[in-house]
Amino acid sequence: MIVDTETRLIAPHGGVLVDRTGERPDDLDALERISLTSRELSDLELLAGGALSPLEGFMGRHDYESVLESMRLVNGLPWALPVCLAVVEAPRADRVALVDPSGAPVAVLEVDDVYEYDKEREAQQAFRTTDVAHPGVRRLYDQSPLYVAGRVTVFDLPGAAFPELAKTPAETRAEFSARGWRRVVGFQTRNPIHRAHEYLTKVALETVDGLLIHPLVGDTKSDDVPAATRVECYRVLLDGYYPSDRVVLSAFPAAMRYAGPREAIWHAICRKNYGCSHFIVGRDHAGVGDYYGTYDAQLVFDEFEAHELDIEPMFFEHSFWCRTCGSMASAKTCPHDREQHVFLSGTKVREMLGNGELPPVEFSRPEVARVLIDAYR
Ligand code: ADX
Repeated sequence: MIVDTETRLIAPHGGVLVDRTGERPDDLDALERISLTSRELSDLELLAGGALSPLEGFMGRHDYESVLESMRLVNGLPWALPVCLAVVEAPRADRVALVDPSGAPVAVLEVDDVYEYDKEREAQQAFRTTDVAHPGVRRLYDQSPLYVAGRVTVFDLPGAAFPELAKTPAETRAEFSARGWRRVVGFQTRNPIHRAHEYLTKVALETVDGLLIHPLVGDTKSDDVPAATRVECYRVLLDGYYPSDRVVLSAFPAAMRYAGPREAIWHAICRKNYGCSHFIVGRDHAGVGDYYGTYDAQLVFDEFEAHELDIEPMFFEHSFWCRTCGSMASAKTCPHDREQHVFLSGTKVREMLGNGELPPVEFSRPEVARVLIDAYR
């Protein structure tokens, strides 16, 4: 692991934590404006605080092509997903203001490239499908036809949805360092933390110094549990079942892409920037429908040498409660038949919660289920 000498934590991707925050320029009102979608705005927030280090702005065509083709930036560093800004027409000047969906200026972009892109090719490479029923492909196909690239300077951002959970990479690093942690495992989630998730995080925590529970709170598809409800679930769970001196809960302001394998790599690199030396990848990470194989998001790590990513993935098999073992387990650790395993489909769980019924404690902690029941009512 390449270590940052100051914090003794893993070094950021590319070696230096990028900071693209800056002053509001005097000529702001005179600049042409580009309006960001909420997904682009979350990318901007990630760029501002260095979560996407070494990126300093929206990607130019050479990096974009290289990432689609070989999952690497032109300089050879691993990078799995495009971070691009789509526009209807090329800006006329070489500096433009970026405005949030409400029209408020948030950043300046130094335009250094405008290029056409092939949506089908991007879909196939990034999502492994061109099916418009895939939510990531749908979003891509609805985008404007040109990408505008360049470095950003962010001087204002809309208030964070969960201010007490908002931490930039510099802030999580400072917190880990203050706690004396060096080996920290990051956990990405877009769901309430059920027993299987809890199991992965605790098994991982057994072998490292600390755990960053890092739920994604940017855009998700409409049938995912809303972030506000999830945050309430995380709080009751952490209060009741996790040691506070070993866990940091913070919000990851990204939008979901649902790109499965490539998003797992991207998620891991982002968490490395937040200071995590390890990253949990379980079953169908960042997947949707049946576009990806159960363990594709683990297999994709084989496309890199370990030193290239530096952050170490921690892979987990599909986990469940086994009645005979009397514990959480997976096919790796449990010899019993499927009938002994507590398995509930998402549909079944939603139906139970909708009827005000608690799912079995082997599936979800009652405190978490109660928050969800209240939210479904
Ligand atoms: S994700 O889109 O953020 O990946 P989710 O919140 O469901 O979705 O999963 C968070 C992490 O837990 C992912 O790494 C996922 O692979 C893992 N995971 C979820 N459920 C299980 C399970 N039953 N067994 C093993 N890993 C799981």
